[in-house]
Amino acid sequence: MLINLLRLLPPETAHTITIKLLKSKLNLRRKNSKIYKSLNQTILGINFKNPIGLAAGFDKNAEVINQMFAYGFGFIEVGTVTPKKQLGNEKPRVFRLVEDDAIINHLGFNNKGSEEIVSNLKSFYVDKDINEIIGVNVGKNKSTENDIDDYLYGVEKLGIFSDYITINISSPNTPGLRDLQLRGRIEALVKKIQKKQSEIEQLVNKPIFIKISPDLNDEQLRDIALMSLANNINGLIISNSTIQRPDTLISNYKNEVGGLSGKPIFLNSTILLKKMHSLTNGQITLIGVGGVSSGHECYEKIKAGASLVQLYTALVYQGPEIIDHILKELDELITIDGYKHISEAIGKSS
Ligand SMILES: Cc1cc2nc3c(=O)[nH]c(=O)nc-3n(C[C@H](O)[C@H](O)[C@H](O)COP(=O)(O)O)c2cc1C
Repeated sequence: MLINLLRLLPPETAHTITIKLLKSKLNLRRKNSKIYKSLNQTILGINFKNPIGLAAGFDKNAEVINQMFAYGFGFIEVGTVTPKKQLGNEKPRVFRLVEDDAIINHLGFNNKGSEEIVSNLKSFYVDKDINEIIGVNVGKNKSTENDIDDYLYGVEKLGIFSDYITINISSPNTPGLRDLQLRGRIEALVKKIQKKQSEIEQLVNKPIFIKISPDLNDEQLRDIALMSLANNINGLIISNSTIQRPDTLISNYKNEVGGLSGKPIFLNSTILLKKMHSLTNGQITLIGVGGVSSGHECYEKIKAGASLVQLYTALVYQGPEIIDHILKELDELITIDGYKHISEAIGKSS
């Protein structure tokens, strides 16, 4: 199987080759995924054919959107995109923790920059299907003089070519980035983004999500909840990778620097999601991400309060077939619980 061959290569080489193969339109796999009526939802005015999205970081440069939709994703988040292209940190900077079903990365927002990514998105938009929902995740350059300006630039340049925008202030690999989550700073950022939004006609109704870290403490979480309610934030994505290292990790790479993703972050990121759902009284749309590799885990996120769910690391270990498996399992799980539609299960965990 191709995925086993790719696993013999260093992680970043495997990723580069995967993107090249996908771009070459080699028919790695193409079929029409089953449509589940029970999983279709309209959220913030957007129709999602199913709730499973590709998390940011896989298609950083918006190069393989069509190909990833072919695997059955309900939505795809490209990026993180920074205004100017940047190479990111020194290699090696991605590590597979195979025994832990996890990855540690300290890529540092390597991406081709907004100009090239806008051009890729424009090509995609030529025959974009109405069911293909795109999020664009924006960040700041490492060497920027003004953090907020970078986000405003991203929103303005890329927002037009997306169904929703994600403000990434939670990646652990850009110095100072996560401080933007702190009280006062996050609100200043949000207000400026909303002002920019109100000045550009095509952006006025575009949902904006803020992606947060799983390493926030309870007080910081409460601050973000209150700020989100007070400023009518559309949604939150919970969560990015963690700088924590659970005791359970056994891989030799467990002490590499960077953000840990995959199975070991499932529990914490789901607890955080549940807390946020409760702190915001279910009034803010939540996207759950972190360690999802099955329909069961996806369902846990939904019951904890997520309307939508994303994944990345499980794709590396299980390959794209995972999407069909999750959708099927999810459909079965809601039926077992006596629900007719996924929306009935949101926030229903005890
Ligand atoms: C190699 C790699 C690169 C990532 N790059 C980004 C990124 O550029 N922007 C971002 O917001 N999240 C990025 N993430 C975080 C994922 O989007 C996701 O939040 C996190 O991995 C948890 O989900 P998972 O356990 O399903 O992987 C990256 C994750 C990995 C593994």
